[in-house]
Amino acid sequence: MDIKKHPFGQIDDTTLVDLYKLTNLNGMAVGITNYGATLVAVTVADRRGNPADVILGYDSLADYINGSNYFGCIAGRYANRIAGGRFELNQIPYLLAQNDGGNHLHGGIRGFGKAVWQAREMENHDSLGLALTYLSQDGEEGYPGNLSITVIYTLTNKNELRIDYNATTDKPTVVNLTNHAYFNLAGAGSGDILDHELMINADRFTPVDASLIPTGELRSVKDTPLDFTRPMIIGARIDQDHEQLLIAKGYDHNWVLKKDTDGPCLAARAFERKSGRTLEVYTTQPGIQFYSGNFMENGIAGKTGQVYHHRGGFCLETQHFPNSPNQPNFPSTILDPGAIYEHTTIYRFSAAGGPPV
Ligand code: GLA
Repeated sequence: MDIKKHPFGQIDDTTLVDLYKLTNLNGMAVGITNYGATLVAVTVADRRGNPADVILGYDSLADYINGSNYFGCIAGRYANRIAGGRFELNQIPYLLAQNDGGNHLHGGIRGFGKAVWQAREMENHDSLGLALTYLSQDGEEGYPGNLSITVIYTLTNKNELRIDYNATTDKPTVVNLTNHAYFNLAGAGSGDILDHELMINADRFTPVDASLIPTGELRSVKDTPLDFTRPMIIGARIDQDHEQLLIAKGYDHNWVLKKDTDGPCLAARAFERKSGRTLEVYTTQPGIQFYSGNFMENGIAGKTGQVYHHRGGFCLETQHFPNSPNQPNFPSTILDPGAIYEHTTIYRFSAAGGPPV
C-alpha cells in the first residue's frame, strides 16, 4: 500500500492544490485532489487483470475550476436541487443562488466542489486514507451557520473506496453531501454507458416536475422504465416515451432505497459485460440519484487526451432526497448545533471471473 502526493496546480500565489494517489495491495489506485475534495481517478483491473481508469475527469486543475459537470467532486452544502433556491428554517426564510434555471443546484455558484479543502494523509493497518476538511462560513452561498465538514476517502485491500462524511454546525442549517463521480466501467472515454447493466435496490422513486424538483410523491417503479429492481441494461428503456424520462432527457431521478440495517446497505450494482467489471454501492443514505449523463455535451476534453460524449458516464449519487428542506414528508436534512451529520458510502469494485480480492 502506498500514498503519494504531487503538486496539481495553484489557484493564486498562496493556494496550492495537490493530487494524492493511493494504491492498494491489488494495484487498485485512486486519485484525489483537495480542490473540491474531488475523486480524479479510480484505476481497477478487468477480468483479465488489465487496469483502466473508470472515472471521468480532467488532467488539469484549470479544467476542474472551469468545468461545469461536477466530475468527481463533493457536492454540498446541499447536493442536488432546492426549489427556487428558497427554504425556511425555524420561521426564518433563506435565499440561495438560483444556479439551475430558477432552482438551486449542488450548493450554488461556488459549492463545495469548487472549494479548496485541507488534506491529511492516513495510513491504517489494512487501508489508506485521505481526510479532507473544509469550513463553510455562516452565510456562504446563502446558508446559515458555520459548517465544519470532514470527508474521509479510504481505500481498502478489498477494492473498496469508502467515503465517510461528517459535519457539525453552530446554527441550525440544512446539509446534504454526496460524491458526484461519473463512472464508465469499460474505461473513461470508451464510449457511452448505455450497455451497462444496473440494479437499484429500490421499489419507489421520487417523480419530478418539469424543473426536476420532486413533486413529493413516492411512486412505485413497477411497470415503469425506472424499475431497476432486477438488473436491466441502462439503454434498453432510456429513450422510451415516458413522462419522467422525457422531462429528464433520460435518467436523472432519486430512488428511495430499501434498508435492512442502519449501517451501509446495498444501494446499486452496475456491471459491464466486456470488462467484467462490477461496481457495488453501499450507503447509509436514504436515497440515490441515478444520473445517466444526459446534460453532458459531446466532445468534452477529458483525461489523457480522451474525449467524452453525451452519456459517457453515469453517476450514482447517494443522498437525501432533493428539495427535502421544502418537503416535510421527506426524511429531514436539518442539522442543529450539537448534532453530528454522519454518512458513509462504499464503492466496491470487482471483476467477474477475475482474480478474487
Ligand atoms: C446532478 C443533477 C443533474 C445534473 C448533474 C450535473 O446529477 O441531478 O440534473 O445537473 O448533476 O450536470
